[in-house]
Amino acid sequence: MTEPNETSLTTPAGGPGAARGEPLVVLTDVNKHFGELHVLKDINLTVTRGEVVVVIGPSGSGKSTLCRAINRLEPIDRGTIEIDGQKLPEEGKQLAQLRADVGMVFQSFNLFAHKSILDNVTLGPIKAKGVKPSEAKDRAMALLERVGVANQAGKYPAQLSGGQQQRVAIARALAMQPKVMLFDEPTSALDPEMITEVLDVMTALARDGMTMVVVTHEMGFARKAADRVIFMDAGQIVEENSPEEFFTNPRSMRAQDFLSKLLSH
Ligand SMILES: Nc1ncnc2c1ncn2[C@@H]1O[C@H](COP(=O)(O)OP(=O)(O)OP(=O)(O)O)[C@@H](O)[C@H]1O
Ligand SMILES: [Mg+2]
Repeated sequence: MTEPNETSLTTPAGGPGAARGEPLVVLTDVNKHFGELHVLKDINLTVTRGEVVVVIGPSGSGKSTLCRAINRLEPIDRGTIEIDGQKLPEEGKQLAQLRADVGMVFQSFNLFAHKSILDNVTLGPIKAKGVKPSEAKDRAMALLERVGVANQAGKYPAQLSGGQQQRVAIARALAMQPKVMLFDEPTSALDPEMITEVLDVMTALARDGMTMVVVTHEMGFARKAADRVIFMDAGQIVEENSPEEFFTNPRSMRAQDFLSKLLSH
């Protein structure tokens, strides 16, 4: 199997002139209900350009909903979400454009089963961004090379391992040249031996300066790649901390309790 290589996966997020450290994703007083259930409660969160934020918390705490809200896959009831200085519109062409700024990788790989690996990566740029097929193919092959699966380009998703499929999903998201990448438990459906290869690709991406929001319980990754850990419980951000502090010396009782359960697994 080809290993993900160590070369740069992207140009720094945001393109030329974009300065690290500026606010890129800004959530202000975001609230969301599912019927009676208050799933996001006054969420205030700023992710700066080039920052890697790991979101951690118990099942049902609202982590996926938060990601889906940032990508407008879920509408919110109250508050605002801005990407690179622009409020997310409700709908229309502008929404499609802003959504393309946000790449998303889910737990399940969500590749198009009846398309080749290469077509999975070229389809978005060709259909949604009007990139010429020959150019889309060159870019896709370069991305597949960088995530270590270029030799699988002609195959179909079912012919690849879970780890390979997830790396294709990352390449597919990157092909849209997003400003920020969201990962929702990208390794939790994988066999242990495949987790590392996906985390290595994500670590390389972080090192290249991609802005990332990553829902994961992989502490090794958080320690290595995260600038900040956000701990969510019952729809709220309960604690924000450096990875080192969070894992060794969490401030909140709820985080302490959660971590003790995670560690005793
Ligand atoms: N479409 C929906 N309709 C109704 N309730 C929902 C919907 N999606 C999520 N919920 C509920 O909202 C709450 C938050 O769910 P969410 O999926 O964001 O949690 P999570 O932190 O990602 O959990 P997990 O760790 O299990 O993935 C949960 O109580 C969930 O049951
Ligand atoms: Mg979830």
